[in-house]
Amino acid sequence: ATTLGASAAERGRYFGAAVAANKLSDSTYVTILNREFNSITPENEMKWDATEPSPGTFTYGNADRIVSHARSRGMSVRGHTLLWHSQQPGWAQGMSGTALRNAMMNHVTQVATHFRGQIHTWDVVNEAFADGSGGGRRDSNLQRTGNDWIEVAFRTARAADPGARLCYNDYNTDGVNAKSTGIYNMVRDFKARGVPIDCVGLQSHLTNSVPGDYQANLQRFADLGVDVQITELDIAGANQAAVYGTVTRACLAVSRCTGITVWGIRDSDSWRTGQNPLLFDNGGNKKAAYDAVLTALNDG
Ligand code: G3I
Repeated sequence: ATTLGASAAERGRYFGAAVAANKLSDSTYVTILNREFNSITPENEMKWDATEPSPGTFTYGNADRIVSHARSRGMSVRGHTLLWHSQQPGWAQGMSGTALRNAMMNHVTQVATHFRGQIHTWDVVNEAFADGSGGGRRDSNLQRTGNDWIEVAFRTARAADPGARLCYNDYNTDGVNAKSTGIYNMVRDFKARGVPIDCVGLQSHLTNSVPGDYQANLQRFADLGVDVQITELDIAGANQAAVYGTVTRACLAVSRCTGITVWGIRDSDSWRTGQNPLLFDNGGNKKAAYDAVLTALNDG
């Protein structure tokens, strides 16, 4: 096929982009979005600071705009993200203990309930593991409420929206390393104990290259009985087009790799200012990286 979304669909997968609500009035942006992609992740609009600016007061305007744009055009929506140590509203940043635990889980219930039936996959928990060689949890206010906070979040999300695929999502987990192995062990434990988890998201914010064991890492998670998704792909630096092709082929080679999301549309939309890590240039023209992905989707 001739677009990313249609080509991915022929391979039984989605191809998505992170979208900002304030760009839905930019016609160049929307033209590319509607032509190329069949999944959307709200870049910021479903985060805790955006959806619950004061305790118990929920604001969904920008998130609802994105969901309605997607669903009216037959695109699926990845919800991002119910719980994260970052982008919390100020009132939650200052909380701890039982009060925070209750606020966290109320947040999960309220947001997942608001969007029930409209979200293909939720990033229930984002970036809860530490970088470096330890393989353990990241210290955060959420983690300090007790090590079971992640499984409680997944059970709470399942109860609120039983139809959504529930994902754990993180970065620097693209190859086999201490951090990805810490997550692997958590997922294995969750599957053994019946904690409801359906997928693992590998963000894949890359520079110059992709780990040689990228596909093997996807496969080891898949072998635990969860789907894997590439959730925030962007690639800076040299060999950009070739690395995009390699990542795409790795997903296609793993039957449980169900889709790829790029973290923005044009280079000028990227959070990586000045690094030009995306598939379209500032003018909305297709880059060599785009051709590499499209070729990989069509030729294997
Ligand atoms: O909306 C305000 C605006 O009102 C204000 O004038 C402006 C001034 O700084 O800030 C605007 O908010 C910014 C927001 O993006 C929307 O543009 C925040 O400051 C800025 O921190 C926020 O950055 C986002 C970042 O997450 C937050 O940590 C990026 O857009 C977003 O791409 C990035 O995405 C994350 C994923 O959620 C998780 N994985 C890593 C990824 C990249 O950091």
